[in-house]
Amino acid sequence: MLTSTNLGRRSFALWYPALMGRIDRNGQAALRRDQLATARGRVLEIGAGSGLSVPHYPSGIDELVLVEPNHAFHPSLRIAADSLPFPTSVVDVDAHELPFTDSSFDTVTASLVFCSVDDPERMLAEIHRVLRPGGRFLFHEHVRGGRVRGIVQDLCTPLQRRLADGCRPNRDFEASLATSALQVVSITHRRMPTLIPTLVPLVVGTAERGPVERIDRADDPGLRSALAEPAR
Ligand SMILES: C[S@@+](CC[C@H](N)C(=O)[O-])C[C@H]1O[C@@H](n2cnc3c(N)ncnc32)[C@H](O)[C@@H]1O
Repeated sequence: MLTSTNLGRRSFALWYPALMGRIDRNGQAALRRDQLATARGRVLEIGAGSGLSVPHYPSGIDELVLVEPNHAFHPSLRIAADSLPFPTSVVDVDAHELPFTDSSFDTVTASLVFCSVDDPERMLAEIHRVLRPGGRFLFHEHVRGGRVRGIVQDLCTPLQRRLADGCRPNRDFEASLATSALQVVSITHRRMPTLIPTLVPLVVGTAERGPVERIDRADDPGLRSALAEPAR
């Protein structure tokens, strides 16, 4: 059935690859290469779109699983994936509920995805769940800027959301990451090479599912009373 959501997704898939392809040629491609340089083992990319990140994976990874719920992107995504020297698959699922077992990936990646998802916290929890302990989440996301740019992004968000398949340019991805169970290893602030002002501020980095989970001492009554007991 042709709903307004389907129509919006199809039209996004028509114009997005050309726009982002131009930005990639202006420097964004190098940033994708940097982001993905440490990918290893079994890798999951969420929201893979038309596959602009796909050529930038290192050749030594074991397997790449590409999650993309917009069917209109699948033909170009499959073409991009078919040229890789390791096994690949395209999976049509919503990353809020990943159909993979716990600890089944060494690396999870996302590029410019969290602006358009409904529940960033839930998606980060899913990423944490499917990563093995010590596994890494490699991200590159456009985010809310400071001062005047942030206000411009706030004002443009309703329109951009309608035109660009749900994209909210004022998303505070760093705040969502900070409250997740993932541990930030590195994060750098970059600029997207584009004249579209709402897209410029970027964060690129790595977060990890810790080898040993963090214990929130305040939430653990046993640990709290043990810590409260005076040392003998
Ligand atoms: C702006 S595009 C980015 C595409 C690609 N990662 C890139 O860097 O060019 C955002 C992508 O996130 C996908 N997406 C949105 N919500 C999603 C969800 N709940 N689960 C998985 N992917 C989602 C969209 O279908 C779209 O392909």
